[in-house]
Amino acid sequence: MEISLMNQGMYFIQRMLSPRVLVALSIVVMVFMGYARADAFSKGSHLDRSKLPLGCSSCHKGHGESGTMMLQAKKGDLCFGCHGPVKGKRKGQVGPDIYSELSKQSRHPVIETSHYHVNGEELPERSSAVPRHVACFDCHNVHRSTKENKVSGVRGYTGKGHKTRASDQSKEYEVCYLCHSDSANAPPESSDISEEFNIRNPSFHPLETVGKNKNVPSLLRDYNTSSRITCSDCHGSDTSFGPQGPHGSNYPPILKYRYEMRFEAESPLTYELCYSCHDRTSILNDESFKSHKSHVVYSDSPCSACHDSHGSALYTHLIHFDDQYVFPNANGELAYITMMPGRPKCLLSCHVKGISFDHTVDSGSYCINGNCLPAW
Ligand code: HEC
Ligand code: HEC
Ligand code: HEC
Ligand code: HEC
Ligand code: HEC
Ligand code: HEC
Ligand code: HEC
Repeated sequence: MEISLMNQGMYFIQRMLSPRVLVALSIVVMVFMGYARADAFSKGSHLDRSKLPLGCSSCHKGHGESGTMMLQAKKGDLCFGCHGPVKGKRKGQVGPDIYSELSKQSRHPVIETSHYHVNGEELPERSSAVPRHVACFDCHNVHRSTKENKVSGVRGYTGKGHKTRASDQSKEYEVCYLCHSDSANAPPESSDISEEFNIRNPSFHPLETVGKNKNVPSLLRDYNTSSRITCSDCHGSDTSFGPQGPHGSNYPPILKYRYEMRFEAESPLTYELCYSCHDRTSILNDESFKSHKSHVVYSDSPCSACHDSHGSALYTHLIHFDDQYVFPNANGELAYITMMPGRPKCLLSCHVKGISFDHTVDSGSYCINGNCLPAW
């Protein structure tokens, strides 16, 4: 209550004064009022004196010179004094190394583009002429982030024009949609991720809400059909015990584990990402789809030939055929028809290593290149 009143007051002052004067003033005011003490202001790690013994002055200077907001270093370098591989020499300069993550092969281009970030900018961007960027501050509010919610205090976007306010319950996926939904300056090959997880789709991984399928026999111990997962359960560091969060990885696109999308011999590592939540034995024993093993093991099919890892606007079970390999069949049909659990009929032609496998229904029975499977 007191805190929100104070925030309102701060916003008012903020409009009246330059940032430099403002920071100096608010530090003085807060110290005077006792707010600068960790517990009273917030439970955020950066305001916790047991973690940052220098308090506000870990990042802010008493009397201003360099940088903006009277920060100790230029905004881009400030974080790396504690979140880089080499720690600064001031008291309390410790923290997970994010710089090394952001230097990996697949990464958020923070080091390259964060200088385009502007305080109070509009996201998603509505002009394709604005340079695309991403900065620590797009995903983190250093005054409010906590160990429990690392995006706490960051605004969000639900897709299709609906913005959400920053709160202590800020949702990770809403922060991601700020740049990975309908941004005007997104690269042409990227997709609207909020559409892929849209809860009106026939299927989706359980992110915004629980999943639609109540029979997912492959789920490993920690998960069940009431579980919800996050973007950073899949997108994160490939270093075991590395820092959490989708900063960078050697597995593109910023994946925690390996995930091949081409025809390749199956092994526990080839689809390690999926096998981190779905039991490999269950999948390869055909507990759900009665032809997982023959496709994945005998034909070297990647999961992605049939499944989308986010969701499918077309079919159930995350079915979304990869159009690099899957085409209409000889009758011009391309469809996924479910009748019996585990034995769907797929009308399509799959091109594998120069050979076509034509899947058709001929006088009621399901046939591959003319060989019919009466039991299917
Ligand atoms: C971990 C570093 C860090 C610590 C610790 C920190 N700040 Fe900040 N502060 C920043 C950064 C970075 C900005 C600029 C934020 C931006 O541009 O989004 C900022 C901005 C501000 C502003 C400008 C208005 C705003 O919110 O953007 C005020 C006021 C402020 N800080 C006060 C404080 C006070 C008071 C404390 C101690 C209770 C404190 N800060 C502790 C990093 C820090
Ligand atoms: C003076 C050192 C210091 C500086 C400067 C600093 N951090 Fe931190 N940061 C820490 C420490 C310590 C933790 C807590 C680590 C822990 O509890 O494991 C932390 C934790 C975090 C977390 C995890 C969420 C949380 O609050 O626990 C985020 C996100 C974060 N920092 C972002 C930033 C960003 C962005 C900047 C630059 C504006 C920054 N930090 C600057 C020391 C620092
Ligand atoms: C402020 C904008 C911004 C926000 C917020 C943001 N990203 Fe990104 N993201 C980018 C940019 C810029 C790239 C580089 C490629 C591009 O332009 O799309 C990128 C790349 C990625 C990639 C790699 C894509 C590829 O094809 O290599 C993944 C995965 C990703 N982001 C996931 C996330 C997740 C998860 C979140 C939320 C936690 C998130 N992003 C939030 C701007 C953002
Ligand atoms: C179950 C694991 C999983 C989850 C959860 C997940 N992703 Fe992905 N994501 C992947 C995989 C695997 C790929 C690469 C395969 C592909 O492109 O289909 C990918 C690709 C991407 C890409 C690059 C390709 C593109 O379409 O632009 C972006 C950006 C991305 N994800 C963002 C997100 C965001 C944002 C979230 C949360 C809202 C999220 N992902 C949740 C596994 C996941
Ligand atoms: C695209 C969004 C995004 C950007 C940009 C980003 N982070 Fe993060 N970061 C996250 C998310 C999401 C998490 C939390 C993941 C989770 O909860 O599993 C996180 C976690 C962290 C953590 C906690 C790690 C741990 O293991 O406790 C730190 C520290 C951190 N970020 C610092 C930074 C710094 C510093 C920058 C800029 C140099 C930065 N982040 C840029 C999204 C981002
Ligand atoms: C040839 C297409 C195809 C390929 C390749 C494929 N799947 Fe499937 N998968 C299906 C179909 C069809 C279903 C739905 C079967 C049903 O329930 O009727 C399914 C269902 C599933 C399910 C949900 C039920 C369960 O078993 O828990 C999971 C999880 C799954 N697949 C994971 C994978 C993984 C992981 C891979 C790669 C190792 C993969 N699939 C490769 C077609 C495929
Ligand atoms: C972080 C854990 C996690 C990861 C990683 C993960 N899944 Fe899942 N997956 C789940 C959960 C939880 C469900 C159950 C959702 C439900 O009840 O519909 C699920 C359900 C599914 C389903 C069934 C959806 C339906 O509606 O029938 C398929 C298919 C699937 N996953 C495929 C994959 C593939 C392919 C990968 C690798 C790219 C993968 N999963 C990675 C957690 C995960």
